[in-house]
Amino acid sequence: MKETELKELLNDMSLDEKIGQLVQLSGEFFQANDISYGPREKLGITQKTVDLTGSVLNVAGAEATRKVQDHQMAVQPHHIPVLFMSDVIYGYKTIYPIPLGLGATWNPDLVKKAFATAADEASSAGIQVGYAPMLDTVHDARWGRVLESPGEDPRLNSIYAQAMVTGFQDGLKDKKGIASCFKHFAGYGGVEAGREYNSVDMSISNLYQNYLPAYKAAVKAGAKMAMTSLTSLNGVPSTADQWLLKDVLRKAWRFKGIIISDYASIYELIKHGFATDETDAAEKAINASMDIDMKSPCYANGLKKLVTNGKLDEKKIDETVWRVLSLKNELHLFEDPYFGSSVEREKKSVLSEEKRKLSRKIAEEAIVMLQNKDNVLPLKPRDEKIALIGPYSTEHSLLGMWAVHGEPKDSISIEEGIKKYIPNIKVAKGTDIGRNRKMLEKLGFFSKEQIDQMISPEVIEQKNNEQAVSLAKQSDVVILAMGENALEAGEAGAKTNLCLPQNQLSLIDKISKLGKKVVLLIISGRPLVLTNIVDKVDAILECWFPGTEGGNAIANILFGKANPSGRLTMTFPYDVGQEPIYYNHMSTGRPVHNSQHVGRFVSKYIDAPADPLYPFGYGLSYDQIKYSDLKLDKEKLSRNEELNVSIKLTNDSNWDCKETVQLYFHDKVASLVQPVKRLLDFQKVEVPKNSSKEVTFMIKPQQLGFFDNHGQYVLENGKFDIFVGRNSRDCLQKEFLLD
Ligand code: BGC
Repeated sequence: MKETELKELLNDMSLDEKIGQLVQLSGEFFQANDISYGPREKLGITQKTVDLTGSVLNVAGAEATRKVQDHQMAVQPHHIPVLFMSDVIYGYKTIYPIPLGLGATWNPDLVKKAFATAADEASSAGIQVGYAPMLDTVHDARWGRVLESPGEDPRLNSIYAQAMVTGFQDGLKDKKGIASCFKHFAGYGGVEAGREYNSVDMSISNLYQNYLPAYKAAVKAGAKMAMTSLTSLNGVPSTADQWLLKDVLRKAWRFKGIIISDYASIYELIKHGFATDETDAAEKAINASMDIDMKSPCYANGLKKLVTNGKLDEKKIDETVWRVLSLKNELHLFEDPYFGSSVEREKKSVLSEEKRKLSRKIAEEAIVMLQNKDNVLPLKPRDEKIALIGPYSTEHSLLGMWAVHGEPKDSISIEEGIKKYIPNIKVAKGTDIGRNRKMLEKLGFFSKEQIDQMISPEVIEQKNNEQAVSLAKQSDVVILAMGENALEAGEAGAKTNLCLPQNQLSLIDKISKLGKKVVLLIISGRPLVLTNIVDKVDAILECWFPGTEGGNAIANILFGKANPSGRLTMTFPYDVGQEPIYYNHMSTGRPVHNSQHVGRFVSKYIDAPADPLYPFGYGLSYDQIKYSDLKLDKEKLSRNEELNVSIKLTNDSNWDCKETVQLYFHDKVASLVQPVKRLLDFQKVEVPKNSSKEVTFMIKPQQLGFFDNHGQYVLENGKFDIFVGRNSRDCLQKEFLLD
């Protein structure tokens, strides 16, 4: 439709119709499948609102979306098509590893492909907007939503933001992409104590330095939508934060797209104690430039009152509706309300062999080898008797909580993957995933009967244990498949205990006493505390929720078809009491290492180390690349020059390897205390067996600045340290002067 026609349409719409465009409802209102997470209280809206609704949440599938579209267009006076928006977070039907695993690939090109293929599948099924990427910087593994983020580093997350947004949107022109709605603006990852929906309170410098860059990168990459956070930031709920939405997002970053609230977050302004009632909440949200109200009655019931009372100029509503209509028009929905979707296309697109292959490759690169004592891995199926034990051995639920469209039945279990190498592998369940009834109840999804099935009766549990131990006794190597329940991580999955469940730990104890080689596979949505396990097992692979091809990817790593190359993007704590723990923390006056003080009075714990168990950037491969000859081409750099940094990598092994070379820096003296290290750049390079390679980086002085407490980016002259290494801890170091 031409812009003039679109304007005519807007002029011709009644106030009710316009308000309808700003309301988003989920499937149950349209007699369609509803797979949304979130509270389900009665909304208190009229059928008229349902008929005039502008967008639909989490209804998917070409047939279902078509049915809803036909009906909505028929009842809408101007036959305006609805937008279908959905949580396509790390795959639609073909599920990739959880974003924390995608982060661990350090491979934005691959991640971009994952997002492009997810968009292809989703668009074939009638979805036009994906609620991703989730770009909240995450520092606290107690928070369940760390699963959804690429990790703790703002620079790395910004690179992923660009890959993910363009991955989704590049195909829009051919109707094979979906519009990207990045989230949760802003700073949700900073929730106090890692507790879900808690408040966020941080300095402006910290916000600009660590939390905002990835969202800004999404805007720069052209993301068409932004979703606000359910939380408050420095006392103001993000959903009605005029400074955040208008001054930062719209004015400073020039974001022209649609802003949508999170699930019921306009209504929750009342619960925050920020608005008196639904109408007040609607007023505060629309004045902050909020366009669409997701799943709350506030806009539907409040906006008209505000206009009638003269509290809100209808022009304000027009501006907002214009953004919604413009996206519909940009996607050519007025000409093709199904946006190229069809049952035939969907059949061909979802779970195609090509997509499964990509999912497998990404899962291989996402798996992080945390330990490999005496090179117990890779395994040799011909020479060793290998057993598979543990509750995740035959489990198909390898997708993680936020794969709302993915189906466990489509995923490859660990047993199925291993069977390609050892067709007769012996398997024992050993124990349940979790036996903590109270916690299973708190997950909020399972009925009493389901929980009864999840917790085996005591006699069966004992029998499972005995069978596992007896199988282990007959074996040379035991592969233990352990982990969290899929619903323990993800939204509302905050926990204070980050160890494996007690029943799994007891089984590890029993098996570790047999003197066999033990390889532990961990399925989890977050960093766990593994401190008490590392001495009991030989090798550990962090497999995350690895996605549809998880079992095949794990097997390929176990048997050496793929060399592990994943590197952590979130710190693994030594103890839960260290949380939040992240590598780019501020320098302190009494650092635990290199303090002028000795003994008690340094920044430490008296009952645990200050350092994590595994630092950011950490991961092993079936080789150990050597780093040497760190060189800077200048000792003194002026602002109009560039600094070249080079390092030599040597691979003496018989493994071709992919190495992620990480470059960090530290500003030694500044007018604001600076982090001990900040990631500046990285390269994932291939180093063939028995070869060496020089890797070079080019640094511009502008990259070395920081944000002050007014949100201004400043660059100060002085001495800087450069660190290059295999992770944020093990680096070579050199100094230079910016003058
Ligand atoms: C989550 C969002 C999600 C939305 C719609 C909310 O509970 O916070 O991330 O996109 O639900 O499903």
